Amino acid sequence: MSIANTEQAEHWNTGPGVAHWVANQARYDRMHAPFTALILEAAALRPGGSVLDVGCGCGGTTLAAARLIAPGQALGLDLSGPMLARARSDAEAAGLANVTFQQGDAQVESLEPADFEVVISRFGVMFFADPVAAFANIRSATRPGGRLVFACWQPLAANQWLLVPGAALAEHVRPPDPVPAGGPGMFAFADPDRLRPILAAAGWRDVEITSEHASILVGGGGSVDDAVEFLRTATQGRTMLAGADPAIAARALASVRAALTPHADADGVHLDAAVWLVQAVVPQPDSPLPPYPRSPSAGGEPGTSRRNLTRAEGMRSCSRASRVSARASAAVGWFRSRARGHSRAGRIAPVRRMRAPTAQPGLPPCPGCNGRR
Ligand SMILES: C[S@@+](CC[C@H](N)C(=O)[O-])C[C@H]1O[C@@H](n2cnc3c(N)ncnc32)[C@H](O)[C@@H]1O
Repeated sequence: MSIANTEQAEHWNTGPGVAHWVANQARYDRMHAPFTALILEAAALRPGGSVLDVGCGCGGTTLAAARLIAPGQALGLDLSGPMLARARSDAEAAGLANVTFQQGDAQVESLEPADFEVVISRFGVMFFADPVAAFANIRSATRPGGRLVFACWQPLAANQWLLVPGAALAEHVRPPDPVPAGGPGMFAFADPDRLRPILAAAGWRDVEITSEHASILVGGGGSVDDAVEFLRTATQGRTMLAGADPAIAARALASVRAALTPHADADGVHLDAAVWLVQAVVPQPDSPLPPYPRSPSAGGEPGTSRRNLTRAEGMRSCSRASRVSARASAAVGWFRSRARGHSRAGRIAPVRRMRAPTAQPGLPPCPGCNGRR
């Protein structure tokens, strides 16, 4: 097994988050259920098909896909030994014989060429040091005409499930250090204008990115205390509470509890989450497509249904993308201002869709981000 992403391999094998993911596998699956449904619906899997699940973690989506394609084969690929151990044991408990799991780095793992009909991923493709190489490697394992369907997070500011507890914690402890924009991590593809050229350079075509919003059950449901405990041991809580005085940590968690309570009902704590649903296709060898990018006057990227934006729309989309830069998470005031005013009445309906905005060449630089995009 060759590994290019050694830091990530260490993080997902021996890092402090791994035990949390393994122990809370069922909770994560319930919390992310709306996005699993979106991925599987878009993937349109058929019995007898073949699926690769990239960054499959504890295998919730791999098992769901395996059920849909039986007797076809599903393969879950992941860096993490402990998470794959959990996936294998769940597959065995479910009596699923058409699923296998492989430990490896999707960026460099040697995969059977043109083997898979569909590649799926739920939050497993944002951690590559060289995303073009990774998506090219994944493409080479996909048949001509085969499809890629994955969900990745929209920016922090669009995700109340992180903002609301983050703002409460930030009243007591320092927010996490800023993550470099676009680097490997949860928000690596928060800006769809970064993602499009990566997928194109990796040989994917007909790229379609839609905005999907859902109200999720924070920590997979249960009591408010269950949600607080989940968040305390998840990345945000662990990072922000690391090294905190126990009395301060207790006050911070009491604030989180108070902030979550208005969003709770008998099922658990409901908060909004926003992802990009990304779809792309491997071109057929006999129908080569023009190189990407095409000029906007040619109607945009071939095969996509994205619309051209007016200058005003482009400005709006740019300022939205910049507003939500992960860098902003470092500011306490920022956390507070974004979380303030969020009420249950203002919750976004379970699934709301729109096509991702596309930057247009020739637009004036966005005042919100000074043209850094
Ligand atoms: C946020 S978790 C998502 C896990 C799972 N897809 C889910 O939804 O529960 C990200 C997963 O991506 C895996 N991962 C990160 N970088 C990877 C790489 N280069 N190759 C394969 N897996 C990777 C991690 O080990 C981890 O299991």
